[in-house]
Order: sequence, then C-alpha cells, then structure tokens
Amino acid sequence: MLKTFHGAIKHTGWRCFSLASLPETHAMLKKTCRDFAEANLKPIAAKLDKEHLFPREQIKEMGALGLMGVNGSPEYGGAGLDALAFSVAVEEIAWGCGGTGTIVSVHNALYVNVLEKFGTKQQKEIFLPGYLDGSKIGCFALSEPGSGSDAGSLLATANLDGDVWILNGTKAWVTSGCESSAAIVFANIDRKKKHKGITAFLVPMPSEGLSLGKKEEKMGIRASSTCNLILEDVKVPKNNVLGNIGEGFKLAMTVLDGARIGISSQALGIAQAALDCAVDYAGKRIAFGVPIIKMQSVQQRIADIACRLESARLLTWRAAALQDSGVRFTKASSMAKLAASEAATFAAHSCIQILGGMGYVTDMPAERHYRDARITEVYAGITDIQKLVIADLVAKEYGIDTR
Ligand code: CAA
Repeated sequence: MLKTFHGAIKHTGWRCFSLASLPETHAMLKKTCRDFAEANLKPIAAKLDKEHLFPREQIKEMGALGLMGVNGSPEYGGAGLDALAFSVAVEEIAWGCGGTGTIVSVHNALYVNVLEKFGTKQQKEIFLPGYLDGSKIGCFALSEPGSGSDAGSLLATANLDGDVWILNGTKAWVTSGCESSAAIVFANIDRKKKHKGITAFLVPMPSEGLSLGKKEEKMGIRASSTCNLILEDVKVPKNNVLGNIGEGFKLAMTVLDGARIGISSQALGIAQAALDCAVDYAGKRIAFGVPIIKMQSVQQRIADIACRLESARLLTWRAAALQDSGVRFTKASSMAKLAASEAATFAAHSCIQILGGMGYVTDMPAERHYRDARITEVYAGITDIQKLVIADLVAKEYGIDTR
C-alpha cells in the first residue's frame, strides 16, 4: 500500500518541506497511518498493555501496508520512502499504541535501515526477505548489562576461528528480542583497541549457543518485548560481518542518529494521544457548573502541551528532512529526541492532572500514555547523552573541543 507513495515521496527531503505543513504526499500517508491506527490499534492498545501481548496480526497488516520497511528498497519489498515519511508513519502508529510504535520504530531504524545502508547484496538477499512484509522481526543488540550510555565499553567478544567468528557475551535491553528471527549483534574483536575493535555481526535466530534471557517486566510499552540475548560460543560465518571489521561502533552511532528520529516520532504520537485525551475530557467534564476547559488553569495546561508538542514535531521533521538531504544530522536528531521525549512525558503528566482521579485509573488511557512516554527519555540514548551530544556539537561550532 505505502508503495503507491514511492516516486511521489522519494527524496522530497528539505526541498519540498515547508514549515507550514507537510508535503501533500506525506499528509496523505499520515492519514493512511492514522486511519489504520484508529481502526486497528487504538481499540486494542489497553489489552496489549495489560496482557503484555505482541501484536502479531497487526504487524502482518502493517507489513502489508509497507510500514515494516518504510525506507526499505522496493527491490526487497520495502516501501522506498524517505525519513520524513518514516517519522510521520511512526507518530501515527504510536498514537494508536505506544508499544506498537516501539516495535515499528526499532525494527525499521535499527534493523531494516542498517541492512539497507551497510549490508552486502548477499546479506540483503538473506536477511531482508520476510522482514519487510511483517512476517519476521529483526533486533539490534548493542547495550550490555554493564554498558548502556558508554556503548564503546561493551564486553562481548568475537574471535575468528577459521571461517567463522565465535561470539560470546550478554546483550541487554534488546527490543523485540523474544520475537526476532535475526539480530544485529555488536562484539569486540580486540578489546585492547577499545571502540575501534567493535564489529557488527548478523546472527540468525535461533542459532546454536544463542539463548534468550528473561522477558523484562516493564513500566510501559508492554506490547513490545525486551530481553537479554546470551551468546555462548555462537558461530557466525565470516560473510555475516556487517560493514567493516572494527567499524561497528561508528556504524552503531550512525544508525542511532536515524533511530533517534524514530523515537522522537514515537514520543510525538504518545504526546498527541495525551493531548487528545485531555482536551476531550476537559470539554465534557463539568465542575463548578461549567466544562473544565472553560477554566484558565486548564487552558494553560492545554496551551503548554500544544506548544511543546508542536515545537518538538518541527524539530523532528527538520531532523528527518536533514537526513533526507544527505547531510550530517546528528545534532538535529539528538535535539528532536530530547525535545519530543520531554514533550511526551510533560503531555502525559499534564493529561493526568486535567483528568484528576480518572487519569490515575486504567478506565482511561492517560495512565498508559504516562507509562509509555517515560521510556522515550531513556532508550536510544538517555536524555543526558542527547545533551552531551548536542553540547559537544554546539561547542565545535565555536571551535571548542569538549573532550
Ligand atoms: N555518527 C558517526 N560517527 C560518530 C557519531 C555519529 N553520530 N558519534 C560518534 N562517532 C564516531 C566519532 O567520530 C569517533 O570516531 P573516531 O574513532 O574515528 O575518532 C568515534 O565514533 C567515537 O566517538 P566518541 O569519542 O564521541 O565516542 P564516546 O565513546 O565518547 O561515545 C556517545 C559517545 C555519544 C556517548 C555514545 O556512546 C552514545 O551515543 N551512547 C549512547 C548509546 C545509545 O544510544 N544506546 C542505545 C542503545 S540501542 C537501543 O536503545 C535500542 C532500542 O531498542 C531503542
């Protein structure tokens, strides 16, 4: 379905992007995704959350629409759209269900797009079919129990033995790890080289020696699974090295720039859902003889949410447009992630304040938005790391090195 937008959208980038509105094609895409989310995700989001259910059927349907390979090349079944389209699509899916937003965002940005950018033809032929139509999911295994923000200090090892690499270690916080059919695993081929020894490997799942740790019990985004991957002498053919040996850290940093736009977009969707919930409630709830939306204190909260949300959306779309124009967008994506995640937690917090007691119980979605929003300030680089990246790049613009 999304393939119909290909050609019209491809590489529209910054040229067609106006600050006033989306290009017409992207606006149509937004409506398509909103209609899908409204009909297929919003009605089940509470159940997925409560029962920690992975939305397998809905992922198949999103695969048929092209949402599991938004930027994937049509040659392998992808929709072939740009980063702005990815952002718009993820926002709408996350509006319907924050946890499903995680699955779509991470699968696209940290699996499909990684293969598209760094995979060889042979790797794409093996590791892309099925992953773009929603039949299979891929995951990204960078963090470890002892290395999250300091990704360069990871301890997993890869040793060459003839024609195979032997992988050992434990990867942590792996989104969709429980359901994945392949993982992009980062391991160090020579710890003395520090981050310059880190290499990315394509690991089929299941593989001998690869086991799943426990599924994490999370505060929110419960439709999405999170687990450890335990690697004990996992044999990976030489051909499964993704990118160049020793360049895995840079590869991870490069793709995380794109993934942060995905998380920003997810945060926007959650923030928009919280705003919708707050305004709807405030228009109906009577207190002191009037709907509470007539009270200035409530109006101020709504204005604050709307301003933060729309500012964050502009930063996110700008980051996506910069990515599409082919320039380095590291600072823009970190700014977008910082602003959008804080907008989401602020929106969800304010939504509960407006709903009062009804915001605190599961009869209404406000408490779920609050729990779902919180992770956006944490994963794909915690807020403090985004600030570090932004400050470092701002200082460089002044000719100052912060290191
Ligand atoms: N693009 C390209 N190259 C980059 C880069 C970028 N954005 N950022 C850094 N690099 C390069 C540098 O140029 C440098 O290259 P040289 O070795 O040639 O000099 C190299 O990488 C090392 O850079 P730094 O010295 O800046 O690296 P650092 O160790 O100080 O770390 C950091 C920098 C920004 C803190 C980084 O470690 C980081 O982003 N940490 C957060 C990790 C993260 O986001 N984890 C999320 C895990 S994935 C996840 O959450 C999955 C999920 O499900 C959502």
